Amino acid sequence: MSARRFILLGPPGAGKGTQSQRLVSDLGLPQISTGDLLRAARKAGTVLGLKAQGFMDAGQLVPDALIFELVEERLAQADAAAGYILDGFPRNVAQADEMARRGIVVDRVVLMEVPTEALVARLSGRRVCGQCAATYHAEAFPTRVEGVCDACGGVVSQRKDDTAEVVSQRLDVYARETSPLIAYYSSVGSLRRVDGFESTEKVYASIMTALSA
Ligand code: AP5
Repeated sequence: MSARRFILLGPPGAGKGTQSQRLVSDLGLPQISTGDLLRAARKAGTVLGLKAQGFMDAGQLVPDALIFELVEERLAQADAAAGYILDGFPRNVAQADEMARRGIVVDRVVLMEVPTEALVARLSGRRVCGQCAATYHAEAFPTRVEGVCDACGGVVSQRKDDTAEVVSQRLDVYARETSPLIAYYSSVGSLRRVDGFESTEKVYASIMTALSA
């Protein structure tokens, strides 16, 4: 029996969003990506989106209170009742503690490990659809027509926080604030490690094994 309430944990560029796209369709679970929720709030011009944008553009974490506002609203939707894929959340130990306090249950945490040099190359080449959030890579996974999403025909472009300077900041923030979650979830026995520096097919297979092991 596969875990149905799980976290994909890993540094920026580990492939959390890429793998979520397939897991969503194969497992029938919603992907709850705090990054995507924040970008949608910015696009819609909400007060929360405006508050978040400076932090995001600088590669810093958005304050925890704003994150919980988004996550609780998303988890309350009907499609999350039977399970969910948490992508990019929690992002620090305070968020993990607060999740537990609010009764947000997690059966498994899958850590995707990728060497730092590969993360930088992945992020600098990443292109994302502004409409459906499908992810591509300029060299490794290009769109069939340049700048046009294969899935929905939306405009595909580079994220603002994928510049070299902001990527370096995001990697520092991951090391300092997010990586302590590895020990946190190891200590309760829910963490499984997968090698994220493999083909997307192999990584997917490893995640499926980690969910059932
Ligand atoms: P968020 O959007 O969550 O960004 P992230 O965690 O930095 O993760 P990424 O989306 O950059 O990477 P990914 O692992 O999804 O990689 P992907 O699959 O795209 O967060 C953005 C910002 O929002 C944060 O900086 C922060 O400000 C804020 N935020 C979000 N959540 C927050 C929270 N909980 N608390 C506070 N603040 C929060 O892949 C990357 C590239 O690699 C792609 O081009 C892809 O095609 C390629 N690729 C993927 N897999 C492979 C593979 N196996 N081989 C080769 N290439 C691959």
